[in-house]
Amino acid sequence: MEIIKTITVHPTDYLTSQELADIDHEISLMETREAAGIEALKVVQSHRGWISDESLHVIAAYLKMSSAELEGVATFYNLIYRQPVGKYVIHLCNSVSCHLTGYQQVLHAIEQHLNIGYGQTTEDNRFTLLSNVCLGGCDKSPVMMIGKQHYEQLTPKKAVEIITALQNENQNVEVEL
Ligand code: FES
Repeated sequence: MEIIKTITVHPTDYLTSQELADIDHEISLMETREAAGIEALKVVQSHRGWISDESLHVIAAYLKMSSAELEGVATFYNLIYRQPVGKYVIHLCNSVSCHLTGYQQVLHAIEQHLNIGYGQTTEDNRFTLLSNVCLGGCDKSPVMMIGKQHYEQLTPKKAVEIITALQNENQNVEVEL
């Protein structure tokens, strides 16, 4: 059984004042501190890009729950990244409808274009490719999500065009949860 290490750093020394304020706000909306777990993870991820082990331990301590409990929450919610990700995270749906409508070809095109596979990030740290369960657009499959944006009725060509447009973009695209 994996032993989850404990931390010695105090949450208020690790989390920024903005992160603490945002987490406190989420706690104020819940009946218990622990219930704010997923929102607290989102807050820290929005500032740091992903949730490191240290972040997880600190957030758990601040919420007065165990790291194992919070890890369970993080694992259940697939938009919490437990490893560093690129600026753009591509979530490609691999559920049934998308499988039936060209998912494999879209995946292949993305992999070829970015030269990465699932779970990998491009060398320039701009794109990470992840699989995803149904994104709720089955009638318009295949579907992928980048940030908050859903892209539907994908073809290999369309998927590559969308990614190329992001590659050519100079401005940041916020990855909001
Ligand atoms: S199966 Fe892909 S969006 Fe539902």
